[in-house]
Amino acid sequence: MKKNKISKNWINKQRRDIYVRKSKIEGYRSRAAYKIEEINRKFKLFKGGMSIIDLGSAPGSWSQYVLNNYKNCKLLSIDHQDIDPIGDSSHIVGDFTVENNKTKIKNHFKKKVQVVMSDMAVNTTGNKALDSMVTGELSIEAMNFSLEVLDVKGAFISKIFMGSSFNEIVALSKKNFKKTNIFKPPASRKGSKESFIISQFLK
Ligand SMILES: C[S@@+](CC[C@H](N)C(=O)[O-])C[C@H]1O[C@@H](n2cnc3c(N)ncnc32)[C@H](O)[C@@H]1O
Repeated sequence: MKKNKISKNWINKQRRDIYVRKSKIEGYRSRAAYKIEEINRKFKLFKGGMSIIDLGSAPGSWSQYVLNNYKNCKLLSIDHQDIDPIGDSSHIVGDFTVENNKTKIKNHFKKKVQVVMSDMAVNTTGNKALDSMVTGELSIEAMNFSLEVLDVKGAFISKIFMGSSFNEIVALSKKNFKKTNIFKPPASRKGSKESFIISQFLK
């Protein structure tokens, strides 16, 4: 398919998408807000006053969802891209996988956090197998990081793809957490291999 035909299809899809329309009405920066809302509705992960890390946060709708709905949370986000400020949350512009950025995140809190959420995904290369492999590696790295910073009752949420690293991520979660769930929220597009892992309560 030609590139301009693909982008026309994408624009038409966006126009028809109820989550895109709803996000415009409700002031969310992207339709992704409804994925974390649906995940939270099912697993009840957030409470007021929590410390939360948002990995791969731009443009910021997951952070918006949490801060709009839960009071007094301390939230730190990181992304390659800068974002417009959200409440009094903090943002690091940079690559999460760089050790110095992981240290900055740990130093920001100086104590354990209650939720680590990651919607990190690589820019699509067009090679679906490669994209899902690299995003899977990011998810594994995020889970390993969460093991260092999470409170024992804490939760890790991450985008995963049904691909090569799926079994590895699930096995890592089962080894380290008491509860592991895989959930595809209705807001996640049906044609996409995206799903989410929700890992709770450290062993
Ligand atoms: C699907 S978007 C996130 C959408 C976001 N959850 C929201 O609701 O607005 C994925 C993001 O992951 C970021 N990302 C991918 N790899 C990353 C990395 N290694 N470090 C930091 N951010 C990364 C991308 O820059 C991109 O903005």
